Amino acid sequence: MIKFITTDQTLDLRSSELRWGIDRSLCGFEGDEERGSFHVGYFRDEMLVSIATFHKQSRDGFPGEGYQLRGMVTHRDFQGQGIGNQLLNFSIVYLRGQKANYIWCNSRKIAYKFYQGLGFEIISEEFELPKIGSHRTMYLRIN
Ligand SMILES: CC(C)(COP(=O)(O)OP(=O)(O)OC[C@H]1O[C@@H](n2cnc3c(N)ncnc32)[C@H](O)[C@@H]1OP(=O)(O)O)[C@@H](O)C(=O)NCCC(=O)NCCS
Repeated sequence: MIKFITTDQTLDLRSSELRWGIDRSLCGFEGDEERGSFHVGYFRDEMLVSIATFHKQSRDGFPGEGYQLRGMVTHRDFQGQGIGNQLLNFSIVYLRGQKANYIWCNSRKIAYKFYQGLGFEIISEEFELPKIGSHRTMYLRIN
């Protein structure tokens, strides 16, 4: 089941799957609580197993209203089962209803194929983020 969730609910999965287990209190993102930001979660039974965060944030040079996807994570025991794909498809339908025009994200190298499978295009050269590694910016037009 997919639901809207709070910032607090995202912190454990962000910590374990994105931040090498650092304290959950350090796993917030600037903008998590801004008006227009929202978080979605996929629950298997009662357990939260996949999360994604969207910040209302347009990019220069791209027409319309954009949202930045951040903190896309599926618990390691549940990866490769189509859960992340379902969670993003839910979010895309929701954002179309909000009249948003596009989604973008800075994708880790291991996730390029995952996002391409959802229709995202690569729009940047590869760049390095300290400690995390190679990334590219990816873009999906939704309206
Ligand atoms: C990237 C990530 C979010 C993907 O989530 P996920 O739930 O595993 O995604 P899905 O299962 O929907 O898709 C993953 C792969 O499984 C495949 N898959 C989809 N449905 C499947 C199914 N029923 N059975 C087996 N495999 C399936 C997909 O084809 C996809 O393959 P691809 O990446 O080659 O396109 C997840 O791997 C993750 O959390 N990684 C660690 C954190 C991270 O790097 N996040 C991205 C930050 S940019």
